[in-house]
Amino acid sequence: MNELDSLAADAQTAFAQATTPAELENAKALFLGKSGRVTALMKGMAALSVEEKKSLGAAINVTKQSIETALTERRQALADAELQIQLKAEALDVSLPGRARGQGGLHPVSLTLERIEQIFASMGFDVADGPEIESDWHSFTSLNNPPNHPARSMQDTFYVDIKGDDGIPYNLRPHTSPMQVRFAHQHIKKHAEAVKVAAAAGLPEPGMPEVRVIAPGRTYRVDSDATHSPMFHQCEGLWLGENVSFKDLKVVFTSFCRTFFESDDLALRFRPSFFPFTEPSAEIDIQFQSGPLAGRWLEVAGSGQVHPNVVRNMGLDPEKYIGFAFGMGPDRLTMLRYGVNDLRLFFDGDVRFLSQFR
Ligand code: PHE
Repeated sequence: MNELDSLAADAQTAFAQATTPAELENAKALFLGKSGRVTALMKGMAALSVEEKKSLGAAINVTKQSIETALTERRQALADAELQIQLKAEALDVSLPGRARGQGGLHPVSLTLERIEQIFASMGFDVADGPEIESDWHSFTSLNNPPNHPARSMQDTFYVDIKGDDGIPYNLRPHTSPMQVRFAHQHIKKHAEAVKVAAAAGLPEPGMPEVRVIAPGRTYRVDSDATHSPMFHQCEGLWLGENVSFKDLKVVFTSFCRTFFESDDLALRFRPSFFPFTEPSAEIDIQFQSGPLAGRWLEVAGSGQVHPNVVRNMGLDPEKYIGFAFGMGPDRLTMLRYGVNDLRLFFDGDVRFLSQFR
């Protein structure tokens, strides 16, 4: 091997041994630098004849080019290796499942309220909404339950620091029954407007439609255990007309329960009871014929014929208008439908519990 060949081979070896870009640049200096071996050879040509310069110069250039090529290749190889290391370090495992955004859903009690609304809407009931902070008159007095009446203690309630015109503080409504009088007032007002419009148009006076409404919403009482929460839900129902009887209450409520629980052999019992705003009054119990609760009577609502004093407070003539009202517990219905035995679970906000109803 001549001197030039071994020079090229030495350069190859030195470059191959360099494992970092810095080492490679140091190795380069040994051959191509100012005092490198290739440079030394070129300097040594000064003393040679023109002919010799020509042939040796050409040979040195070939060697120099091969060393430069080797250098470039090694630079690229080191850069590639570094890139590979970096890629490995930053590697993403694309087979890992992604972090999906949690899927929300309606609260089980909201699902029940929607279901109640749908079923009653199919029987021609309006759905009304009312205030949770209520006047004493609407919560009690208008419902035939005057101040100091012992029946008020059945609904021991929360009061707020705002007084009504009567000087009595407002309360957090203990039931949805105030909506009976509130809705009747709205209903009568709407009818009065319709009468005016008809008169202006020269049309015969329209009769007043029946009052047929449900009013679901939040209610409050001083109660707290596995089946009572200080905040709970009720759904009021009211049907008033010129010929609405207790029989209609039985038909409507029975058909509601059977639809709600999807069971035709559900039994209902109307058990005599007392409410100031109904006469006669009844608690409504249901009994499943199969399943884990079969055979037990379960209370789901209070009900009765609307008391004449309440009809009067609505602004209607109790000699003409008659009907029924009921107040049921959507929380209770939800517990029965899904087999939940602690009401508090509904209001703890634990997503592990709530997501089961999605
Ligand atoms: N408001 C009564 C309660 O909360 C239920 C009820 C409503 C009873 C309507 C009769 C008629 O207990």
